[in-house]
Amino acid sequence: MKNLLVTGGAGFIGANFVRYVVAQHPAVHVTVLDKLTYAGNRANLAGLPANRVQLVVGDIADATVVDRLVRRVDAVVNYAAESHNDRSLRDPAPFMQTNILGVYTLLQACRQYDVRFHQISTDEVYGDLPLRQNGVGAKFTPTSRYQPSSPYSATKASADLLVNAWVRSFGLRATISNCSNNYGPYQYVEKFIPRQITNILSGRRPKLYGNGANVRDWIHVTDHSRAVWEILTRGTVGETYLIGANGERSNRDVLALILKLMDQPADAFDWVKDRPGHDVRYAIDASRLRDELGWHPEVTDFETGLRQTIAWYRTHPDWWQGSKATVEADYRQNGQ
Ligand code: NAD
Ligand code: DAU
Repeated sequence: MKNLLVTGGAGFIGANFVRYVVAQHPAVHVTVLDKLTYAGNRANLAGLPANRVQLVVGDIADATVVDRLVRRVDAVVNYAAESHNDRSLRDPAPFMQTNILGVYTLLQACRQYDVRFHQISTDEVYGDLPLRQNGVGAKFTPTSRYQPSSPYSATKASADLLVNAWVRSFGLRATISNCSNNYGPYQYVEKFIPRQITNILSGRRPKLYGNGANVRDWIHVTDHSRAVWEILTRGTVGETYLIGANGERSNRDVLALILKLMDQPADAFDWVKDRPGHDVRYAIDASRLRDELGWHPEVTDFETGLRQTIAWYRTHPDWWQGSKATVEADYRQNGQ
């Protein structure tokens, strides 16, 4: 694994993966293909050595650029996607284009040049789970039924089905990972945790959807990166791996912790309109990843990870201030 193509590598999780590879695997050269949509940012790759990382600005649905890059690498890891549920409810079109046709384009090129492919998917392809009763609740497994709720998750589910079909019909050497909610540095300010942190830092009030009882299964982004590397280099072709760190928390509890860590009163937030079709709960059973590949999360204390994330946004105002007003104006227009 000497030459990697990381698509979507200028976004939140992709850039963290590129940084992880550069730091931990010195023999690997990374080419990033990224369209630099509203969520992509050159600054996410700032400071990385030019002889280790090359950024190509382009679209994963553009067969010409994809062909030119795929033919010269050993593997492709696809992070590129339209990734935000709320946006997919307002305008699903770019989700269809990138998350389905873009993946199709990558698959065709990897098939042609027999290149190893890894698809970054999401736990949301499995729909949602009921809230725990007396502390007990089911978890998603690799055999859970696909029943996505939003246009976003439906396009991610579609991509997974394409990958599996290319493995079976064309012998493509591919794997899929379905991860739970990530947090950490470089996450765009539209997402829940950075939105609330930057609301407080910019004198706005945090916003909680619905009744705040919805549960997400949080994992630190560096643990996600390590898991993807293990799957890419040691995983079984054709398999799906679920990635999660036993980090279930309600949105209300996460916000309460952010308010506490940022010295705000416990009631210093606004309740806002709920998301239509809002998934109730996610929870990951990552047994295959742990048992087969020996992966374990290293950031096991959510409060510590969150404190470090708050510190990152506090010390990087130039990174987020430019997009904050636009993101909040869009949310305001939507009643959120
Ligand atoms: P993000 O929105 O921060 O980044 C997406 C990146 O993809 C951006 O750099 C963007 O410019 C790029 N991109 C979009 N369309 C493109 C195209 N057509 N061609 C090339 N590049 C394009 O997203 P993220 O949160 O970093 O998520 C990355 C991946 O991980 C996505 O596939 C997402 O579905 C998946 N995922 C995210 C989470 C999470 O908690 N954020 C959890 C599990 C899985
Ligand atoms: O589970 C993995 C998924 O996690 C990824 O596939 C997606 O790409 C990623 O965006 C994330 O999806 P969510 O919809 O769970 O993330 P989001 O940050 O948008 O919202 C997290 C929860 O917080 C969700 O229940 C909605 C709620 N929320 C969100 C925002 C932005 C609020 O209560 N207030 C807010 O302001």
